[in-house]
Amino acid sequence: MKQNLKFTLRGENFSTMWEKQILLLPGPTQIPPRVMRAMSREQINHRGPVARKILFEIIEGIKEIMRTENDILIFTSSGTGGMEAAVANIMSPGDKALVVSNGAFGDRFKKLCQAFNIEMDVIDYPWGEVVDPQNIEDHLKNDHGHKIKAVFVQHNETSTGVLNDMEAISKARGEHPALLVVDAISSLAAAELQVDKWGLDVVISGSQKAFMIPPGLSVVSISPRAWEAVKRCTNSRFYFDFTLAGEYLELGQTPFTPALSLLYGLQESLKMMRDEGLENILKRHSQYRNIVRAAVNALGLEMLAREEISSPAVTAVKAPEGMNAGDIINGMLEDYNVVIAGGQGNLRGKIFRIGHLGYMDPLELVAGISALESVLSSLGQPVDMGKGVTAAMKIIKGGKSCESIDN
Ligand SMILES: Cc1ncc(COP(=O)(O)O)c(C=O)c1O
Repeated sequence: MKQNLKFTLRGENFSTMWEKQILLLPGPTQIPPRVMRAMSREQINHRGPVARKILFEIIEGIKEIMRTENDILIFTSSGTGGMEAAVANIMSPGDKALVVSNGAFGDRFKKLCQAFNIEMDVIDYPWGEVVDPQNIEDHLKNDHGHKIKAVFVQHNETSTGVLNDMEAISKARGEHPALLVVDAISSLAAAELQVDKWGLDVVISGSQKAFMIPPGLSVVSISPRAWEAVKRCTNSRFYFDFTLAGEYLELGQTPFTPALSLLYGLQESLKMMRDEGLENILKRHSQYRNIVRAAVNALGLEMLAREEISSPAVTAVKAPEGMNAGDIINGMLEDYNVVIAGGQGNLRGKIFRIGHLGYMDPLELVAGISALESVLSSLGQPVDMGKGVTAAMKIIKGGKSCESIDN
């Protein structure tokens, strides 16, 4: 990133400070100053009483957010470490998995199963589409010998901005004993997720999304049924061994040195989340989605995901015909220091993604929209300047859904 970004205001040149960037990514997300301060505290003995208290407090906070009584393990790793841990601890070589994929992160579960020699059935959807629980139900009904030990799926597919219906997917298992492993890395605390009520066996999340702390921690919840699978599992594992982590947890420790500063940060951010209240946090995220969708709609751009399946954490927008999404992303960064994400895989160059989760306020989204209007116009797209901003402000002032905006 340029440290001395130049911009022109009424013909004069100015420079902005790079720390003033507007980070509209679907992770990493912005860090509240309170959390920054907490993370700058001195290091302590990670096997001492203070660290134990912090770890237990964090686990209670995560249970509240996940709405679960299940055990929670914390690993020092990015979210993918938690995904790998799930595969390594419940699937033995020769077991079969049903991997359901509607985007780049669904495909990651396929790669992980391959890496661990797990047999796989796959249900694929076009990127931008939602998982149909009926397909899972039909597939499991045909698995007469119950060879499928677990279903792997994303709650929020971050690569496309599609939110899968996890309650319906869980129900789709019917009487089939397969475990349900859910990647909730970008959805937890942005979208409703009821781990116990919905019967989700293994749920994985990551620190750099709605938890409002930097990357580096993965969080995994494990149901009693999943623990049974862990006991039976013959796979090799070491760093990500659930059994070992569970034993240490009873002592209020992790098997290996944890990222203490991130734990301080998580302790603080969970306090903030408790103060705000989960219901309010979820409402705020769905309003952020409404703001972005209303603005994008008003600018005449198309979104990848239909409204009914759209994510409260990230919105994927198709670049106008003949325009490379990379040029929009670069323009936003270079002209306005607004950071948005690109498309992954085949969507690279075709979409850009606006993240709207975590520590963010609505006017940051409005700033992002106004930068988008300006950049689109500079790139030659006919833009009615201010139309996106007006649509966004209507939502902010009225709290209406984007469908009810009359332009
Ligand atoms: C849904 C989902 N799964 C997995 C990951 C991978 O997490 P990480 O990059 O922290 O390993 C991400 C990260 O964006 C994600 O959004």
